[in-house]
Amino acid sequence: MTSDDLGLLPRPWQMSITGEQYPWQGDRDGEDVVVIKNQPVPGLLAGSPTWQRKEAYRLEIVAGRAEITAEGELGVANARRTLRQLRTSRTVPDLVITDRPEFEWRGLSVDIARHFFGVEDLVAVMDIMAELGLNRLHLHLSDDQGWRIEIPAIPELTERSSRTSVGGGPGGFLSQEDLDFLVAQGVRRGIAIVPEVDVPGHVTAALHALPGLNPDGAQPDVYEGIEVGISSLTEDLPETERFLEGVFGTLVPHGQEGVHIGGDECLLTPPAEFNRLVASAAGYVRAAGRPVIAWQEAAPVLEEGEYLQVWDERQDLSGVVEAARRGVRIIASPATRVYLDMKYADDERLGLTWAGTTTLREAYEWDPRALFEGLDPAAVHGVEACIFTETIETQDELLYMLMPRLAAVAEVAWAGTGIGTEGQWESFEARVRVRELWRPPSP
Ligand code: ACM
Repeated sequence: MTSDDLGLLPRPWQMSITGEQYPWQGDRDGEDVVVIKNQPVPGLLAGSPTWQRKEAYRLEIVAGRAEITAEGELGVANARRTLRQLRTSRTVPDLVITDRPEFEWRGLSVDIARHFFGVEDLVAVMDIMAELGLNRLHLHLSDDQGWRIEIPAIPELTERSSRTSVGGGPGGFLSQEDLDFLVAQGVRRGIAIVPEVDVPGHVTAALHALPGLNPDGAQPDVYEGIEVGISSLTEDLPETERFLEGVFGTLVPHGQEGVHIGGDECLLTPPAEFNRLVASAAGYVRAAGRPVIAWQEAAPVLEEGEYLQVWDERQDLSGVVEAARRGVRIIASPATRVYLDMKYADDERLGLTWAGTTTLREAYEWDPRALFEGLDPAAVHGVEACIFTETIETQDELLYMLMPRLAAVAEVAWAGTGIGTEGQWESFEARVRVRELWRPPSP
């Protein structure tokens, strides 16, 4: 028996097998597990930040009985997740695990705009995320191809622009109650919902619904193709401010850990106007006391403690470096590694290839703290996988693209890097096989 045979995903920070195998003792739900709370986890490094200490745990198993030590509820929940995975075997060796995540922000972004995915699909995704120790579900709620979130003050958005999608599919949208429900389901699983409405680009659906957002008053058709950079808000229109205030004011109560304002690929927005529009959107989130999250292009506008999501290494990244110097927190989402809508291999039916193909190994073997030259490694606070859905229409297709690559991203988010010690990839691959998640790169 090696630790890989136990199939833990993600791999714990430190783990040693200390004795023989025993059958599990006690009841299956683990109600009788001994939990020692409000107790510092022994063995963490000096200087471990508060958030990390709160998520840390020690799990000791002796003769089939488990004991958890943690400072707080988050640590206990993390320990119980590991215990659930161990419990899928009939017997268990004596062992000691000391575990803590490297990154506080461990996310997945799902595009429900290009094709719509509803509550049931998103709960299925959250179940997988919870098993992998991921804690942020970012929802891309609007784009050129559809508007997917009810905004009670602006009902035209869903009335006129929710019934479309890429290629002319049926569309759909989340009501406010649906979003409340998802937030509540997330709380049960340790996952915060991060709502995103993407501005000032990616807005054809909004321009279609609201004539006043168009300087000439002419409404474009909702777009069913997959080009980007084709639309923009315009400043100094009364409707633009009403739109930004109505939308972000509505999202803020749902975004406990922050609200994403987009900011990517605004090819039609003049740079100075872009900065002012992004600052205006950010202002509504800041006024509510919530962190702003934005894609890398919005770097000049973000403030200390806010989150910048880096996705495209081909762009000029000097603004990102500069933002990191100001204390902006970086979320690593390099498209070449964690865009799980990229095909596994060229001959697959699903997915795109603009950032290349991405095998399981490529999703695993990278280091978020070495994202690109010149970025302070200490500025990286998170890792987030993304799945855009231009080619993805069903829950089966969504889960096919996510797994097992999401397990690779989760392990990087917990361990800090998928490269380093010899045999690390082989260990990961072995554990993916134990959990029966293995699939050849191309079906
Ligand atoms: C993005 O992929 N445009 C963030």
